[in-house]
Amino acid sequence: MSRRRQIYEGKAKVLFEGPEPGTIVQYFKDDASAFNNKKKGTITGKGVLNNRISEYLMTKLNEIGVPTHFVRRLNMREQLVREVEIIPIEVIIRNIAAGGFSKRLGIAEGTVLPRSIVEYYYKNDELNDPMVSEEHITAFGWAATQDLDDMMQMALRINDFLTGLFLGVQIRLVDFKIEFGRLYKDEEMRIVLADEISPDNCRLWDLNQREDGQGSLPPGSRTGRGSLSGSRSPPRYPRRGRRGGPQGSQGGAVGAL
Ligand SMILES: Nc1ncnc2c1ncn2[C@@H]1O[C@H](COP(=O)(O)OP(=O)(O)OP(=O)(O)O)[C@@H](O)[C@H]1O
Ligand SMILES: [Mg+2]
Repeated sequence: MSRRRQIYEGKAKVLFEGPEPGTIVQYFKDDASAFNNKKKGTITGKGVLNNRISEYLMTKLNEIGVPTHFVRRLNMREQLVREVEIIPIEVIIRNIAAGGFSKRLGIAEGTVLPRSIVEYYYKNDELNDPMVSEEHITAFGWAATQDLDDMMQMALRINDFLTGLFLGVQIRLVDFKIEFGRLYKDEEMRIVLADEISPDNCRLWDLNQREDGQGSLPPGSRTGRGSLSGSRSPPRYPRRGRRGGPQGSQGGAVGAL
């Protein structure tokens, strides 16, 4: 690697100064963590995949008008992004009860939520990223009400888009975490999607996984699953068969997932 200045090293990525002012390079590592960094390991090739996946998803989101920090992929492990002022809030969007949400509220894992639920967590590892309300966020000046409105709108749009995209390949988007930042250009500021969207930050379940984990279900036998519009009792998803890195699937990276 060249003699670029390193700005930051996190659990999943290293940030370097970019070639032009206002840009940074995100280097995707193979390091994996779970349970808020209490469990660590490496998954060979994870960084390469996450770099690609985040490039793909951010590009698609840009195409439908969701502003993102993504500029271009540079190589297997690196991408160029616009430097933003990260809003210290992790936004989690949930479609199905799982993980910490199920424990906290006593809602069985796999229960389809009556509507998508957006939650905010204060980005602070020492405090274990505690859940906060809009009141905390605006009172402490982490984001303004207008910023939060923009974030919420974008989060729901991203959720709709990703839900459809994953369903097309037989994967259920259970929940995911995103981060936003402020991008300054001339006198203007706008909120853009930052960080990454990859299996590290998404809880993904295989629609074809049988509850006993024994491979695919035969076609047509998935009644009750895969439909959010069932008129009877809400469909439940099996706990098994989730996909995603150890962070996403065990609720680590996304401490609160
Ligand atoms: N466009 C951007 N400009 C500036 N900082 C960014 C940008 N996109 C992401 N970041 C920040 O870069 C860091 C990425 O590193 P990584 O994902 O490894 O962090 P982390 O270990 O998850 O920890 P944390 O998010 O708590 O810092 C994060 O702190 C993220 O908020
Ligand atoms: Mg991160």
